[in-house]
Amino acid sequence: MRPEPLVHPPAAPTTPAATAVAHPNIALVKYWGKRDERLVLPRVDSLSLTLGVFPTTTTVALAPGTAHDRVTLDGAPAEGEALRRVVAFLDLVRDRAGIAHRAVVESENTVPTGAGLASSASGFAALAAAAAAAYGLRLDAAGLSRLARRGSGSACRSVFGGFAVWHAGRDRADPAEADLASYAEPVAVGDLDPALVVAVVDAGPKPVSSRAAMRHTVDTSPLYEPWAVSSRADLTEMRAALLAGDIEAVGRVAERNALGMHATMLAARPAVRYLSPATLTVLDAVLRLRGDGVPAYATMDAGPNVKVLCRRPDADRVAEAVRAAAPGSRVLVAGPGPGVRLLDGDGR
Ligand code: PMV
Repeated sequence: MRPEPLVHPPAAPTTPAATAVAHPNIALVKYWGKRDERLVLPRVDSLSLTLGVFPTTTTVALAPGTAHDRVTLDGAPAEGEALRRVVAFLDLVRDRAGIAHRAVVESENTVPTGAGLASSASGFAALAAAAAAAYGLRLDAAGLSRLARRGSGSACRSVFGGFAVWHAGRDRADPAEADLASYAEPVAVGDLDPALVVAVVDAGPKPVSSRAAMRHTVDTSPLYEPWAVSSRADLTEMRAALLAGDIEAVGRVAERNALGMHATMLAARPAVRYLSPATLTVLDAVLRLRGDGVPAYATMDAGPNVKVLCRRPDADRVAEAVRAAAPGSRVLVAGPGPGVRLLDGDGR
C-alpha cells in the first residue's frame, strides 16, 4: 500500500502569518546518532516528556517581494549557523507548499539557548507549526512531527504533550518512504504523577553542538554501538514501566540510558564531555535522596544541566536538595507540558 502523501495542496487560501507555541522535551530514552543527516533519521528510537516550562513562541509572516528571509531570535537578528538552519527549514516548507515567498520570522525563547535544555526542540516545533500554517501546508500531527524533525531531531517529540516516542523507522530505498516512517507519537501511560526538577548549573551555550557531537561519537566511539543496542532494550522496559506507572523503574531506565549516552561521548576520540563538576555534585545529591528513600533519578543532555525525575509530591524536597548541593544554580520544578499549538489572532 502506498502511504498517504505527506503534503496536500492547500485547501484554503494561505494564512499570511501564523504564531505557534511549543515546549521543550527531555528524553528519558535518548536520541543520539543519525543514520541520515539530510533527512534527520536517527539510529535509535527515543522517548521523552514534554515540559510545562520554557515555551518558545514563533511567528512566521510571508513577505512577498522581499529577497531574503528575516529572522529575529529573542529580539536580535539571527546570523551564522542559526540563520542558516532556519532558512534551510523554510526552504523545505516553501518547496513542499510550492510558494517561493520569503518570510519574516520572530521567535522568543524562554529557555537558555544551546545549553542542553532542549531549546532547539521547542524552537523547531514552534517554527514547523507556524511555518506550515503560514505557507498553507495541511499536515496531521504525525506529518507536523516529521516536518519538525527536519529542523532538529528532538523537535519531532515536542509536537506532542506529555510522553512521546520517536520511531526511528527503517532504511528504505525510497527516501520519501524513509521520511514517512520516522515520526513521534504519544505514549500510553498508567497512573503516574511525574515532575522534572531542572537544575540549570550553567546557562552558557555548549562548546560543541549536539549535531557535531553525535556525528563524532558515531564515527569514533567504540561504545556507541553497544549503547545503541542497550537503548533498544531500554525503550521496551521504559514503555512497560510507564504503562505500569512505576516511577522507580522509569527513573532507573532513564538514568542508566543517559549515563550510557554520556559514556559513548567520553569514549569518543577525542572525548566530548558536557558534564561539569557541578553536574556531578547534583548527581551525588540525587544518590543521597535515593538513600533517604526518595525516588529521584537524573538525566543530562548535551550540556552540564541536570533534570531530576521524581514524583510530583516529592518535587519540592528534591528541588531543595539540588539547590543546597549546587548553590548559584537556577532550580525549577516542571510538570508535563502541552503539545505545540497555534495561537489565534488575539494571541490565545
Ligand atoms: O535534536 P538535537 O539535534 O538537539 O539533539 C538532541 C539530543 C539530546 O538532547 C542529547 C537527546 C534527546 O533525545 O533529546
